[in-house]
Amino acid sequence: MMDSGTTLIDGFGRTIDYVRLSVTDRCDFRCTYCMAEDMTFLPRSDVLSLEEITRVARVFVGLGVRKLRVTGGEPLVRRGVETLLANLGQLDALRELAITTNGSQLQSKAPLLKSAGVTSLNISLDTLSDAKFSAITRTGRLSQVLAGIDAAVAADFKRIRLNAVILAGQNDDEVVDLTEFALARGIDIALIEEMPLGQVNAAGKPLEFVSSDVILAQLQRHFDLLPTQAPAQSGPARYWHIDGSRTRVGLISPHSNNFCHSCNRLRVTAEGRLLLCLGNEHSISLRDSLRAGASDHELATQIRAALSRKPERHVFDQPDEPQILRFMNASGG
Ligand code: GTP
Ligand code: 5AD
Ligand code: SF4
Repeated sequence: MMDSGTTLIDGFGRTIDYVRLSVTDRCDFRCTYCMAEDMTFLPRSDVLSLEEITRVARVFVGLGVRKLRVTGGEPLVRRGVETLLANLGQLDALRELAITTNGSQLQSKAPLLKSAGVTSLNISLDTLSDAKFSAITRTGRLSQVLAGIDAAVAADFKRIRLNAVILAGQNDDEVVDLTEFALARGIDIALIEEMPLGQVNAAGKPLEFVSSDVILAQLQRHFDLLPTQAPAQSGPARYWHIDGSRTRVGLISPHSNNFCHSCNRLRVTAEGRLLLCLGNEHSISLRDSLRAGASDHELATQIRAALSRKPERHVFDQPDEPQILRFMNASGG
């Protein structure tokens, strides 16, 4: 029998009601902070099938998970993802079905996503300059993503947020312009400190991230920002409202404002690894269990047992800490 009406609580008392499902490690972009230029992707047989992903999701919802976020790589390059989303959208107890996307396919797919039951979209947009967009994404075209954002706004999702990773010397002069862009469309924006995943720093030198404090100071010179009372378990972003608008500005500060005490999430990688923390390597293979014929109940028991191994926090800044050699596309951010 399936577990139902239960709650997942980890060894530090945190309630886990949110799972991020990476459906592919592939992407049509090659963002410098996410991937190497020349990536080797997983062989297809190593990646969970859409049926396996649906099954894992169903088990998690049975364990009390109420929000699913489908990620990648770029989730919309996975063939059949619309069907997967429609199946996830039918899971009874689910309250939120979200996607994080690079926006490249939204122009054609936004209405389909809406009708599949997707409630919210996070769309990456780091710059409004064609040249910088090409430099950061290596293979992306800004106009295509802007058209995708327009299509998403027109499709009227409950919530749309832009994600901008702020990179020293590259787009840190665009914080206000990107926020104005979101404001003009009545959508949210998150400004993100870069995390050193998959990158090998010379001699353990810490990454030169742009601190959220610096970003906030820039924003406060241009906008009237009202702090919001975020619910206790609301994820990494700290939000401010732009006065007189619907737009919220979120700061995601993995370096300067650790949010791990309120962590509410687990991840499943494209190859079915249950990853207990983005900034650590603790994981178990759900794929091995699925392919060995485990029942839903056995999967649920395995997930519960793994929870006690969820680390207390990510550590990105200590030079003597082990480097995370997994690129961001492997875990879906
Ligand atoms: P919500 O579902 O609204 O909480 O969105 P989100 O901000 O978690 O999702 P998104 O996929 O848009 O990720 C935005 C940024 O937050 C990315 O840089 C992610 O890598 C980062 N992020 C999300 N969850 C975690 C986490 O648990 N730990 C760390 N260190 N970073 C995270
Ligand atoms: N640091 C912070 N955020 C990152 N993302 C990708 N790589 C990094 C990184 N190294 C963000 C993307 C996307 C989300 C899934 O993760 O911008 O919006
Ligand atoms: Fe693709 Fe997103 Fe990674 Fe960029 S950040 S390469 S769009 S998965």
